[in-house]
Amino acid sequence: MTLSDTEAQARTLGGYDDASRLRQVHDRDWVLDRVAGEPGVLVDLGSGIGQLLEAALLRHPSLRLAVGLERSQHRLDEAGERLRPFGGRVVLHRADLTAPAPLPYRADVVTMTSVLHWLYPVEHRVLGWVRDHLAPGGHFLLTTYHPQRDADGLGGEDDIVRDALGALGIPAGSVPGLLDDREVLPIATRTRPADVLAALLGEFFTLEETWEREAVVTVRDAAQYEHFHAATFGDYYASVLEPGLRSEFFRAVGRAAFARQKRRGRVSAMPVRLWKLTARTGTTA
Ligand SMILES: C[S@@+](CC[C@H](N)C(=O)[O-])C[C@H]1O[C@@H](n2cnc3c(N)ncnc32)[C@H](O)[C@@H]1O
Repeated sequence: MTLSDTEAQARTLGGYDDASRLRQVHDRDWVLDRVAGEPGVLVDLGSGIGQLLEAALLRHPSLRLAVGLERSQHRLDEAGERLRPFGGRVVLHRADLTAPAPLPYRADVVTMTSVLHWLYPVEHRVLGWVRDHLAPGGHFLLTTYHPQRDADGLGGEDDIVRDALGALGIPAGSVPGLLDDREVLPIATRTRPADVLAALLGEFFTLEETWEREAVVTVRDAAQYEHFHAATFGDYYASVLEPGLRSEFFRAVGRAAFARQKRRGRVSAMPVRLWKLTARTGTTA
């Protein structure tokens, strides 16, 4: 079977450099603006294609080590290319953050942007890892997304996917069951509410400060959203369908998103929270 361009893109989560301009990359400077002083070691969790590491290295000549942990080999390869000019100041590790292994670093700063929901429901593992890998006085800077969810636990990207599946003839009412059958957790279920997250974070960290912004996504056309979805979510949702329907599904996602924008002036808007945390000592959670 020949894959469409978008199916091939989704397999490798390709095109993120472009796609992330619509939403995720805005976290980068928002977070780095909160890095104080002259850090020596920074670790970025779910480091993607290395955009945050690159910006951190450019901002902070004091950084002798910038470490990225990431699951996707394609993304690590792209990050490796991007960060090549920084030579031995960069270390990239392939890692699964749902079961993070100990590393021989103590970081002045640990960052994690737009990743935590992928680690649900075992986020406590990475949070314990961060607490144990922060240098004394170090900070954990974390961004989390908080789409509204409905009674079925769907919201945010799930809503667009539900519209797209509807266009393929799948009734809206059967979408929660379809996702459940295929063990695809709705993103709005993965993203815990801010108060629940605050309690979880409190087991490992002391909260210094939080900030909030609204992430608003608008696109120039349906194709741009189709590209964004494939780069961000890959096959995650498409996997609920037979392979022969996936190419049409990606197109339908683009059309559904653009139709929403025509109705509401934007595809989506959701609160994003930035948490500045320090390790709690003497705790074992
Ligand atoms: C939305 S992207 C965010 C990338 C980057 N932090 C940013 O803000 O642009 C989520 C990233 O988390 C990575 N990821 C998801 N689950 C992971 C896991 N279990 N272990 C390591 N990385 C993971 C993905 O491969 C992807 O690069």
